[in-house]
Amino acid sequence: MAFPRQRLRRLRQSENLRKIVRETTLSPDDFIYPLFVVHGKGIKKEIPSMPGNYQQSIDNIVKDAKETYSLGIPAIILFGIPEHKDELGTEAYSKKGVIQQAIKAIKDKVPELIVITDVCLCEYTNHGHCGVIKDGKILNDPTLKLLSKEAVSHAKAGADIVAPSDMMDGRVAAIRSSLDKEGFIDTPIMSYAAKYASSFYGPFRDAAESTPKFGDRRTYQMDPANAREAIREVALDIDEGADIVMVKPALSYLDIIYRVKNEFNLPVAAYNVSGEFSIIKAGAKLGWIDEKRMMIEVLTSIKRAGADLILTYFAKEAARLL
Ligand code: PBG
Repeated sequence: MAFPRQRLRRLRQSENLRKIVRETTLSPDDFIYPLFVVHGKGIKKEIPSMPGNYQQSIDNIVKDAKETYSLGIPAIILFGIPEHKDELGTEAYSKKGVIQQAIKAIKDKVPELIVITDVCLCEYTNHGHCGVIKDGKILNDPTLKLLSKEAVSHAKAGADIVAPSDMMDGRVAAIRSSLDKEGFIDTPIMSYAAKYASSFYGPFRDAAESTPKFGDRRTYQMDPANAREAIREVALDIDEGADIVMVKPALSYLDIIYRVKNEFNLPVAAYNVSGEFSIIKAGAKLGWIDEKRMMIEVLTSIKRAGADLILTYFAKEAARLL
């Protein structure tokens, strides 16, 4: 007999009762904080569509990295905005690239903080696509070489984890074998394994100045309508040597996070992307929502769905509340 013997409200009567039966808890340990690096000195330029996030020169990035670590957040992920963009995204794998310099500066001052680097070409190419272009097509195989070079140059600069976000086929295997050849056998790969062609990346593209100049990313990023295909993508990346697999975006793809977590036995990351962040900020600015509660609810839902790690622009704000 269920009711009246069973009353689920019994365990909801006070905050402490709710606390002892809570199934999902958030901690700053779960977070990876994204940072945008630019050349120069003393630069801290707010990204209009992402309040509280900045394009920063290396001196300020180091300060931010210190603050992030002091809040108990164990990892950051770096995105670079180069001085010059060109057809092949040369700065992405240059020794003097903005990311390579930033990694060194951060590792010098905050050595314990885990520095993850986004491995992609879109911020570095003049066309804004994530690969090599010929006759208006994004070529898969020639791109792998450049991505491998980029990953190795990040590792050489001291990156702790490399995170390819380009969605070319075979890139995890190519990066793994290049890293191994150069002696970086212990550098993990966190692959953006199930990355969808999403409208939720809009604000990020302003931040990273990486909007494609023609077309869109739908020939390499996944169709938002597909779930079974995500399982294939993730399985392939694991086969190719990924250590952590990511689902991106997070909120419209909680079902994908859940499926990936159930299917595979390795850490699952989820990217609470720029658009997901910005709509909450915008709603708060309009006075339509309770920002802090919504932030915690959203992050909790991502973790409840199965994410072990959450990449989020809310990392510092959430860590301060927890
Ligand atoms: C680069 C990259 C993107 C994001 C992370 N790495 C943009 C894209 O694919 O267009 C999006 C992150 C965000 O929206 O917060 N390929």
